[in-house]
Amino acid sequence: MKAQFITLLLVSLSCVWLAHAADDCPTNQKALFCYFANWAIYRNDIGAFTTNDIDPSLCTHLIYAFSGLSEYGGIQSLDSYNDVTRAGFHNFTGLKAQNPCLKTLLAIGGWNEGSRKYSVMVSDQRYREAFIDSVIRLLVQYDFDGLDFDWEYPSERGGVAADKQNFGLLLKELKQTLSKWDLLLTIAVPMSTYILSAAYDTTAINAAVDYVLIMGYDYTPVNSQVTGWLSPQNEIAATVDAWIKTVDSSKIVLGVPAYGRSFTLDNSNQNGIGVAVAGPGEAGFYTGEPGFLSYPEIQSKVQSGLYTIVKDSTAQNYYAYRKSGLDWICFETEETYTYKANYVLSKNLGGAMVWSIDTDEFRHELNSTFAVTNTLRKVLFAN
Ligand SMILES: *[C@@H]1O[C@H](CO)[C@@H](O)[C@H](O)[C@H]1NC(C)=O
Ligand SMILES: *[C@@H]1O[C@H](CO)[C@@H](O)[C@H](O)[C@H]1NC(C)=O
Repeated sequence: MKAQFITLLLVSLSCVWLAHAADDCPTNQKALFCYFANWAIYRNDIGAFTTNDIDPSLCTHLIYAFSGLSEYGGIQSLDSYNDVTRAGFHNFTGLKAQNPCLKTLLAIGGWNEGSRKYSVMVSDQRYREAFIDSVIRLLVQYDFDGLDFDWEYPSERGGVAADKQNFGLLLKELKQTLSKWDLLLTIAVPMSTYILSAAYDTTAINAAVDYVLIMGYDYTPVNSQVTGWLSPQNEIAATVDAWIKTVDSSKIVLGVPAYGRSFTLDNSNQNGIGVAVAGPGEAGFYTGEPGFLSYPEIQSKVQSGLYTIVKDSTAQNYYAYRKSGLDWICFETEETYTYKANYVLSKNLGGAMVWSIDTDEFRHELNSTFAVTNTLRKVLFAN
């Protein structure tokens, strides 16, 4: 116990020292959050992506996704072999050695974690306290700079109505403790005004969090029966406008997808938006996941000449369908990422976010340009 405390003390002293080393970092610039999906290590062939493939100079904040909630209500690694045994956490926060202004956060939650356990944890002050303890221990042990809370979603998917208030309480208590350690608190929220009002106590959130990351993508789920937009600008604008009624616009961060949603059409003559699909699109060679394609996988398809490409300016999305065949993809291009980054500036938001850096172009054979992230950088850091 004593040795543990001394370790904590030493780690925290070195944090203070590092914070001094980072005194020269810009304080008024936009934030660029980049998620790293830890399962990207399992992708095929040269598509496999580890923390060592991250360029530490690209983003202001990196988020490691995901950790989860244990049966006992504490934060836990969901892949301890890679996160801990093979030092994924350590390698990730170690990227700060190459960029002292970089902040590294750990995300908890995600779609697969669901809601039920979280709903129970926030419901009782003693559970919340035990959870907060476990968070501090894990963050300090691995030198993370904060926690990103990705509960999907309070009051939904097995949650209860009281989640809204209880999650607000948890965030308030969490921030009180994180502040003592100089650690950040962010949350990820869906592109939905309906879930906003059902799930989030925005007044409590504005007081407690450093940033609210709006997941401005996944508008059409993989199991949809019809084609639809991936990240429609009109829905994004409605969600942003609803958030900035109570939350400072400088805390709002707009997330963009470095991936596309694909479907197999029912009928090759019906290839627009809202037409019937037979199922998710065929998995990409590298990503190996039906209905999901990385940015380079999309680029190689749409630049092949085999697809008809359609742009929609209202949605600021593209879709493409194979001239002979049933393949259909909704995606973004450098043009729409630029549009969205300019929207971030025009609304005076806090910055942008990319889900996720491991599906950007990262390797020589995949152009190694980090095209999505760099396109956002060009606009956000123009001055
Ligand atoms: C962490 O870095 C070491 C040294 O480069 C590497 O051997 C290891 O595979 C990395 N771990 C993960 C999970 O990527
Ligand atoms: C890589 O870049 C070249 C030239 O800009 C382009 O023609 C090619 O399609 C790109 N490949 C991928 C996989 O993005």
